[in-house]
Amino acid sequence: MSKVVTLNEFILDRQAEFPFASGELSRLLSDIAVAAKIVSRDVRKAGLVDHILGAHGNTNVQGEEQQKLDVVADEQFIKAFENGGEVCGIASEENDDYVAFTSEAAKKGKYVVLFDPLDGSSNIDVNVSIGTIFSIYRRTSDLGSEATLEDMLQAGDKQIAAGYVLYGSSTMLVYTTGCGVNGFTLDPSIGEFCLSHPNMKMPETGRIYAMNEGNIDICNPGIKDYVKYCQSFENDKGAPYSGRYIGSLVADFHRNMIKGGIYIYPGTTTSPEGKLRLLYECNPLAFIAEQAGGLATTGFDRILTIKPERLHQRVPFFVGSKKMVEKAMSLMQ
Ligand code: AHG
Ligand code: MN
Ligand code: MN
Repeated sequence: MSKVVTLNEFILDRQAEFPFASGELSRLLSDIAVAAKIVSRDVRKAGLVDHILGAHGNTNVQGEEQQKLDVVADEQFIKAFENGGEVCGIASEENDDYVAFTSEAAKKGKYVVLFDPLDGSSNIDVNVSIGTIFSIYRRTSDLGSEATLEDMLQAGDKQIAAGYVLYGSSTMLVYTTGCGVNGFTLDPSIGEFCLSHPNMKMPETGRIYAMNEGNIDICNPGIKDYVKYCQSFENDKGAPYSGRYIGSLVADFHRNMIKGGIYIYPGTTTSPEGKLRLLYECNPLAFIAEQAGGLATTGFDRILTIKPERLHQRVPFFVGSKKMVEKAMSLMQ
């Protein structure tokens, strides 16, 4: 039997590979893992809290109102970042503006974290997989000062690390620091993330496509052509692909990481920039996809080179197996 490698052991072993290895990034990744375990626990009892405890007036023992899980997750991660001492500020999908931490310790933090605390919110109430997505950058502002908007608006190719947590049939944490992608599964009996998917590679091609086809008539004609191609006997596989759409980007992305596939959330006539957020969803998953040998584009341009202009900026998103993304792009006008 081979030895179990926990996430913390793995992080420490890999620290030396890292150009600015002073331990702060390692501590930050460990803080994320602790927050992820707490959120995972809350996700696992979501139905109980809503339907049993919530029936008594929706307040907990401290008299606080029961909160929606995405607010709970947001607060849990912010707490971890604010008190960890490595992070000077954050931006989250759940907050209108970025948050610059004001404590002296936090102002000395080297990093900013941008994150989607709970991805796939519409799946919370129906017991379908959801996730957390995060992206870490070195600050560009001076150490010792408060974080600035410029710290948050860096292009994706400046990311130091990125990852996601999938609260699925098991809880997994997958991350990259730019030296490949590794996946860890939470063993609830020992409360540790254990290395289960070393050096993850996205298959070069696959036969699964994921998109909300309800939007097909309001998409660029290139998308219609690509979906027709996926459904045709004349495609590269000689048989129709399978359509799979969970509606939680993390879960659709994770499946494609393992089995090969493409995920598309295109611009539409009603939302030309699509739905997904560049800073909290597309950049971190694009970094992971590229590190695993996949591709991530807007249908025309590489996601990671976009210079963000706004915190909540949206972009069309094509991500997954390299050959599939290339084929979809070749049909875009
Ligand atoms: P969030 O729950 O963080 O707002 O993100 C939801 C996103 C993504 O996870 C999912 O793939 C997509 O929205 C689903 O959108 P549609 O319902 O429009 O298909
Ligand atoms: Mn999301
Ligand atoms: Mn969300």
